[in-house]
Amino acid sequence: MRTRTREPQTLAGAGTLDRLARILAARNIDPTAATAAAASDEPEPYAPLEALRGAMVPRYRDAVADHPQVLAWCREVAAQAVAPGLGGRRQVATGPSLLMAGVVGAGKTHQAYGAVKTLVGAGVGVRWRATTAADLYAELRPRTGVDTERELAAVARVPLLILDDLGAAKASEWTEEITYRLVNRRYNHMLPTLITTNLAIGDLRAHVGDRVASRLTQMTTRVEFDLIDRRRARAA
Ligand SMILES: Nc1ncnc2c1ncn2[C@@H]1O[C@H](COP(=O)(O)OP(=O)(O)O)[C@@H](O)[C@H]1O
Ligand SMILES: [Mg+2]
Repeated sequence: MRTRTREPQTLAGAGTLDRLARILAARNIDPTAATAAAASDEPEPYAPLEALRGAMVPRYRDAVADHPQVLAWCREVAAQAVAPGLGGRRQVATGPSLLMAGVVGAGKTHQAYGAVKTLVGAGVGVRWRATTAADLYAELRPRTGVDTERELAAVARVPLLILDDLGAAKASEWTEEITYRLVNRRYNHMLPTLITTNLAIGDLRAHVGDRVASRLTQMTTRVEFDLIDRRRARAA
């Protein structure tokens, strides 16, 4: 009997087309532009927000950041954005990071995706990636035929990273090491990172280790979310 093979897991855990859309959007290429241009000679209007929405998982496509600290972070990152050349669009360069802490369902991931949209809406070019810590560890497990070092380097260097649910995966020396290498590189290069966690600060320190916790303390501003589970509140 043949078993159906599953789609290869991507960082965001979606299929190939979604992945392609994400890659194009990350490079600020509208995936519909190529076919539209082939069909007519009219130049297509450039719609970076639409391309961005298409690259986001459906759950958070319509997310709007409204948390004051998140919006303040967007302004700082936008202010530090740099144009690669004369007349080029300003791109996310260096910037502060946020540690968004709160209970499950508080709206942390919503604010993180919303922040990417805010930046793009402000005219800033954003190459970004989103992954849960658990997916990242799975992606980086050493296995034959996959250059996991390259994958780690890519995640470490992407201008804007959403690292979701840090502390939710089972900890081991190996996950601690991976987290350290990732956070240390982003710390050294001062790359803006949106980290979410539902752990209290002491528990997070125990989970990620002192070296990571110390860097996070310096590189992030802590954003505390209200003690509301929006998923349950909606279902009730
Ligand atoms: N400001 C908001 N407005 C509307 N819906 C929201 C808002 N924040 C969160 N949600 C919704 O509430 C649910 C939980 O939010 P989520 O960001 O996934 O929580 P967390 O990441 O903290 O566990 C999701 O369905 C999300 O779409
Ligand atoms: Mg979340």
